[in-house]
Amino acid sequence: MQVVELESRDMDIRLDGKVAIVTGGSRGIGKAIAKVYADSGAQVMITSRNEDSCAATAEELGDSVAYMAGHIARDEDAERVIEATMDQFGRVDILVNNAATNPYAGKTINVDRARWDKTFETNLTAPMFWAQRVWNRWMKENGGAIVNISSVGGLSTNPILGVYDITKAAMIHLTKQLAAELAPGVRVNCLAPGLVKTDFAKVLWEDGKGDDVAKAYPLNRLGEPEDVAGAALFLAAETGRWITGQTWALEGGALVKFSDVS
Ligand SMILES: NC(=O)c1ccc[n+]([C@@H]2O[C@H](COP(=O)([O-])OP(=O)(O)OC[C@H]3O[C@@H](n4cnc5c(N)ncnc54)[C@H](OP(=O)(O)O)[C@@H]3O)[C@@H](O)[C@H]2O)c1
Repeated sequence: MQVVELESRDMDIRLDGKVAIVTGGSRGIGKAIAKVYADSGAQVMITSRNEDSCAATAEELGDSVAYMAGHIARDEDAERVIEATMDQFGRVDILVNNAATNPYAGKTINVDRARWDKTFETNLTAPMFWAQRVWNRWMKENGGAIVNISSVGGLSTNPILGVYDITKAAMIHLTKQLAAELAPGVRVNCLAPGLVKTDFAKVLWEDGKGDDVAKAYPLNRLGEPEDVAGAALFLAAETGRWITGQTWALEGGALVKFSDVS
């Protein structure tokens, strides 16, 4: 059997000629993904609710990044963003379902209907219908890759984040289901980060509160948005070509730490 030697240039992960949409691309993890995709040769459409912050991020990331503001859970906004991407770039090879919300903290059993519905609409229903739209508009005929951003919380239980975590657990199953349905043309994978230093999770890590969490992670630090972006690049690019339906936990080793219960 002939062994093909790997050269360093084979390890250079590229997205030249590809077009990606990153929801929630204006800051945090979405911004880091948009940056690494653009740096790897892709053209990128970012979207979030705040037009000014989208514009500022697009300007910072350079000419290959465009923006269109919108709310991910509004059908007309999703339609507008996808059509703008087609008009401007002519294709949608990669969708990153990244934007999410967490309006409720408390026991799941006590949640009110409005915040339950809002969490599900934004974190689960919206990503599902963004996937459906890009499938119908481009990927069904031309192939592509979808990367869903879940959470390590979707793999376990939590005293106050149960509602959010249930949506993220469902996203992991949505990933498997769509991966089975959309193969072989479209790969669907998922990332489940632990605590990452962004605005979204600030209440959990600001003022030194993250230090104990960091110590509990075998890799001894909290995540940075770029830690997630690297995996999102690997999965979307040719490097991920035989991977579909998978969820990668990116959590500094939290899931393998020694249990306190013996
Ligand atoms: N940070 C963590 O510790 C952590 C851990 C596990 C998983 N995650 C997941 O990682 C993803 C990104 O989180 P992040 O920490 O990077 O958050 P972030 O820094 O707060 O960024 C969230 C992004 O989503 C946008 N966004 C929020 N709601 C939106 C909506 N309804 N429609 C459109 N855009 C919306 C925000 O912009 P606008 O406000 O302008 O809309 C922003 O661009 C989320 O799915 C989150 O659940 C984060």
